[in-house]
Amino acid sequence: MGELNLILLGPPGAGKGTQAQRLVDDFDLPYYATGDILREAVKNGSELGREAKSYMDQGDLVPDEVICGAIMERVDSPEAADGFLLDGFPRTIGQAETLEQALGRRGRRLSAALLIEAPDEDVVRRLSGRRICVANQHLYHVEFDPPKREGVCDDDGSELIQRDDDKPETVRKRLDVYRKQTEPLAEHYEELGLLRRFDGTRPPAEVHEHIRAAVKTLKLEDEL
Ligand code: AP5
Repeated sequence: MGELNLILLGPPGAGKGTQAQRLVDDFDLPYYATGDILREAVKNGSELGREAKSYMDQGDLVPDEVICGAIMERVDSPEAADGFLLDGFPRTIGQAETLEQALGRRGRRLSAALLIEAPDEDVVRRLSGRRICVANQHLYHVEFDPPKREGVCDDDGSELIQRDDDKPETVRKRLDVYRKQTEPLAEHYEELGLLRRFDGTRPPAEVHEHIRAAVKTLKLEDEL
């Protein structure tokens, strides 16, 4: 089987991270989420984190030159030689071109862009109730996907917290940024014949079934 080089697209709160946690187990792919990478960098106080923090706190995108190097380093690493799952990258046409050119130089190409769609009102409700665990960023929702014990991660027992950028005013800004800067990528990947759309308003298990079936079909087509 060839490489499975996948990207997840969708507005904040569409369920990209939720689905990624499941797809990684299904297809045994290394997973790179730019949001997680940046939040870790902020926590460690690294140069990347210092550059990114003020943009993230305001719900703006970090400049392309700050993020592209960090992600391409991972895509080029030996563990990603047979495929990868990217979440949160690319987010601008510039980032998409950087990724395509870098893959092309190495004789590689994207397998698909998986777009999870959800309307603004769902997204705002989801993000205001989202909780993440401090140890490994496992995801929960106080109403839709609660942990067994309130405030404690089922998987690793660490504390569940709310992300700084999940405050209502920052969420609205992130949505606005998504519609202006990232949504045009759907058309870009549609033109390349790579786009697959999924209804993110369905329950997480159902969304997962749909994406898993689509990726399995891609693998089968590749093997023919
Ligand atoms: P990032 O961390 O990537 O945030 P995002 O794209 O805004 O996405 P989210 O993590 O908020 O949402 P998600 O779709 O993963 O939803 P989730 O699965 O958690 O980026 C943060 C910031 O970093 C950006 O604002 C930017 O500043 C910077 N950045 C990152 N990448 C960058 C880049 N490439 N360039 C420049 N800057 C960059 O689900 C949300 C909630 O809903 C959860 O509580 C979950 O339990 C629940 N839920 C999920 N699915 C369902 C469902 N089907 N039904 C009901 N509830 C559900």
